[in-house]
Amino acid sequence: MTALKIALTGATGGIGSAMAQGFAQAGHSVVLLGRNSEALAALRDSLNQPERHQIVLADLSSAATITSLAAELATMGNIDVLINNAGVSDFGLVTDLPDDAIAHMLQVNLIAPILLCRALLPLLRASTNACIINIGSSFGSIGYAGFSAYCASKFGLRGFTEALQRELADQPIAVHYLAPRAVRTTMNSPAVVAMNKELGNSEDEVEIVAAAALQLLSQRRSCNRYLGWPEKFFVRLNALLPNVVANALKKQLPVIQRYAKQHRGASL
Ligand SMILES: NC(=O)c1ccc[n+]([C@@H]2O[C@H](COP(=O)([O-])OP(=O)(O)OC[C@H]3O[C@@H](n4cnc5c(N)ncnc54)[C@H](OP(=O)(O)O)[C@@H]3O)[C@@H](O)[C@H]2O)c1
Repeated sequence: MTALKIALTGATGGIGSAMAQGFAQAGHSVVLLGRNSEALAALRDSLNQPERHQIVLADLSSAATITSLAAELATMGNIDVLINNAGVSDFGLVTDLPDDAIAHMLQVNLIAPILLCRALLPLLRASTNACIINIGSSFGSIGYAGFSAYCASKFGLRGFTEALQRELADQPIAVHYLAPRAVRTTMNSPAVVAMNKELGNSEDEVEIVAAAALQLLSQRRSCNRYLGWPEKFFVRLNALLPNVVANALKKQLPVIQRYAKQHRGASL
């Protein structure tokens, strides 16, 4: 496959660093976007052919920094691929979520990817292998107690991706939506990990998501990928028969409420 230049947000996170490793190993160049310069430098040094990869400091929590980030990327030459991977998740019942936590999740998980897609489309249009991958979640299709604002952000990202796929249908830019189920990273607090264990929810390793993203790079047609069984089945069932899924999830509610309280009590 042609060597691509990939702008990757959230590069130093669990899934981001696994993607960076996989892309570098496959011969692609990665522009590593993140907030921590030391972690970015350590990641770059650990990649195959470190000199081929670049670092850009980027905090996605404000629209203004995204505008200047796009301008900075434009000075770095071509970009073939944008991967919106940075994300935050704040577990808790909606009545326990502070205003700023809700706004922050929507900004980083939804508004920042929209602004980045818009800002980078002119650069992507110059590539014959242009591609956008938005990292969603199975919670972008299934509303789940304890994750209401996070679900809202990922439902929004899925809707944005679908609309963008249709808006760019007459252009050679593939727009993909990649939705993992729970993944073993520090995004999930100890309370979430314990809750998933008690409920029998599986957690994937980061390499599974990284392999799926690598595979999407060679897909010229826009597509949506859901990872993990039975989650990908429940995504479809929830779209067709939401009450069936709601009844099944109701049985989990006392457990979710207990862990949500425990999580917020521990972090307040
Ligand atoms: N882990 C899961 O169970 C799971 C399941 C489904 C989907 N996902 C999605 O997968 C993606 C990656 O998550 P992960 O599990 O790898 O989480 P992670 O290890 O916590 O990494 C998240 C990344 O996002 C970055 N980030 C957070 N806030 C930012 C901001 N304001 N500006 C710039 N970057 C910011 C973090 O940067 P810092 O290192 O600077 O904080 C970090 O690199 C997210 O979109 C997440 O929603 C995760």
